Amino acid sequence: MGINLFGMAQLYVSQDMLADKKRELELEDYTVCELGGILVLPEYRGNGIATALQKIEIELALELEFDYVISMAHPDNIGSQKTLEKVELNFIKETRLSNGFLRKLYMKKIK
Ligand SMILES: CC(C)(COP(=O)(O)OP(=O)(O)OC[C@H]1O[C@@H](n2cnc3c(N)ncnc32)[C@H](O)[C@@H]1OP(=O)(O)O)[C@@H](O)C(=O)NCCC(=O)NCCS
Repeated sequence: MGINLFGMAQLYVSQDMLADKKRELELEDYTVCELGGILVLPEYRGNGIATALQKIEIELALELEFDYVISMAHPDNIGSQKTLEKVELNFIKETRLSNGFLRKLYMKKIK
């Protein structure tokens, strides 16, 4: 029996790695994880897969007792922004990260 891979999502949990974004969102005093690196193969898009993956990630974040879930989207990436809104992350601001990339920042308090 084969395994079909049609999408993936990553939950970033390293507080060191997230330090810049925590500062940007004034969340230095909290534990934060990031919904990042999500991809659904083009032929499977539009079926709610990204939304479902992000819901699973938020459940995991709750189990791990993080205070906040954050995420970022490129300003032109409507799909990315919509999927974040579907799982009720709030748009906070658009900013240029320390690597120079322009991103929309989102967050949700879960604790
Ligand atoms: C962004 C991405 C992950 C969305 O995956 P998906 O499984 O198609 O998303 P969903 O089916 O859960 O869509 C959730 C909502 O967003 C909307 N949406 C998704 N992609 C959209 C797009 N390109 N334009 C407009 N709306 C879009 C859907 O219509 C849906 O809204 P609805 O329920 O009101 O109809 C997918 O398009 C992708 O892999 N893109 C390339 C990689 C990428 O950009 N990743 C994000 C940055 S790391």
